Amino acid sequence: MADGGSSEREEDSPRGRLIVVSNRIPKGNDVPAGGLVHAIDDALRRTGGLWIGAGEPTDEAGSELTKIGDGAYERHTFAITHEEHDRYYLGYSNAVLWPLFHHRSDLLRIYERDFEAYVQVNRRVARAIARIAEPDDLIWIQDYHFLMVAHELRALGVANRVGLFLHIPFPTASEVMALPQVAMLPAWVAAHDVFGVQTRRDVGSVREVLREDPKCQILNDGTWVREGRVFSVLAFPIGIDAESFARDAQNASLPRLTLQGNAPLLLGVDRLDYSKGLVDRFEAFGQYLEHRDPDSPKPTFLQIAPTSRGDVDAYRDIREKLDQTAGAINGRHSELDWTPLRYVNRHVDRTVIAGLYRRADVCLVTPLADGMNLVAKEFVAAQDHEDPGVLVLSHFAGAAEQFQQALMVNPFDHHAFALAIDRALRMPLEERRERHAALRENVFTETIGWWTDAFLARLARAPRALDQIMRSI
Ligand code: G6P
Repeated sequence: MADGGSSEREEDSPRGRLIVVSNRIPKGNDVPAGGLVHAIDDALRRTGGLWIGAGEPTDEAGSELTKIGDGAYERHTFAITHEEHDRYYLGYSNAVLWPLFHHRSDLLRIYERDFEAYVQVNRRVARAIARIAEPDDLIWIQDYHFLMVAHELRALGVANRVGLFLHIPFPTASEVMALPQVAMLPAWVAAHDVFGVQTRRDVGSVREVLREDPKCQILNDGTWVREGRVFSVLAFPIGIDAESFARDAQNASLPRLTLQGNAPLLLGVDRLDYSKGLVDRFEAFGQYLEHRDPDSPKPTFLQIAPTSRGDVDAYRDIREKLDQTAGAINGRHSELDWTPLRYVNRHVDRTVIAGLYRRADVCLVTPLADGMNLVAKEFVAAQDHEDPGVLVLSHFAGAAEQFQQALMVNPFDHHAFALAIDRALRMPLEERRERHAALRENVFTETIGWWTDAFLARLARAPRALDQIMRSI
């Protein structure tokens, strides 16, 4: 690292700069808080280095990187055409890989031209990295938009340590058969030194897929070999900057909420995505309303779900379905002075959300599939530990592996889900405190800094690709 490093730095494995690649990159000097972009900003602030991401689509794509902004580390964008944006981003990334990796093969939209654009963009990124990388630089690729970059780098003779972190779940061996490029997947994975995923369950899925490839072999220490290259598949559950999030939540001024008296507030915060289980969540809340004790306080469920990837068909469909479901529930249960479900389909500022997390009595994080889900962690960090609210969490969120003390639900079972809502609203203070303390311990220990250090320390320890080549001759 150019300007200092983490305490994990090892004398025998020199690190150059950190080069991070992600599709999304902040274009202005303000880095939006939360999610992947915030995580990378945090990592680069700690280590220094360089971040490469997609520029705004243009008419023509040159191969040069463009330097943008200034700050503690460098940012560069690679060029992408309007057509590539449609085919590489909306198409192959978000209408093939995203649904497949979220167990929704029924939503796949497969077009050969989309894959061609994906190859083209991945190749352009690999060439740009190859031009700037110095031998000791660590290359850290983020997410499903760039599954082929490491493979392309190796083809260009780049021997640097290269890691990828996949923020979304990994499909099972049978699901992955729906990918036309299934035969190439093991070679893409094996081109990294470290292929990182969110959970142990994902490690299991990657293993299943690699086992189908006759060229892949697992060694006694759990690492893999393919065509002479050694690589690892490991879980690194991503965390948040808990301290600063808790501070923001404490200092946030609460937006004016027209709730009945001190009525309980249930909260959901998600990108509007079919993987988030919003329709099931609304239906479960509808069932709860159907059976609730009429003498109990009238709760409000506030769901914030800004539109996302609105140009992909499946996202338009889910939006319509959600509008209908919300309308039907409110039509049936609203009273003159009470709207049980508030559905906000627009962006809400992070500082406002932080305040809402603190005020909420129950947070519903109930995806049908999710890599990790940082909303669950932010809610826990934001709550008052003296009088905490209850996290209702789906078994299918990656966070479930660390968060067994949440109130776990199966989002497909609306009846049981409705009972869990009722239980959350009635939970005695002592039980709430006990559960929250255990979750809090995890959120404040396995933070974003912990995640970055763990991944980079592992990557820096990987045997050099060049050594590997020599050894295999
Ligand atoms: C998920 C993905 C990220 C992505 C984010 C927002 O968290 O794992 O890679 O950046 O969603 O999606 P978008 O398509 O708007 O970048």
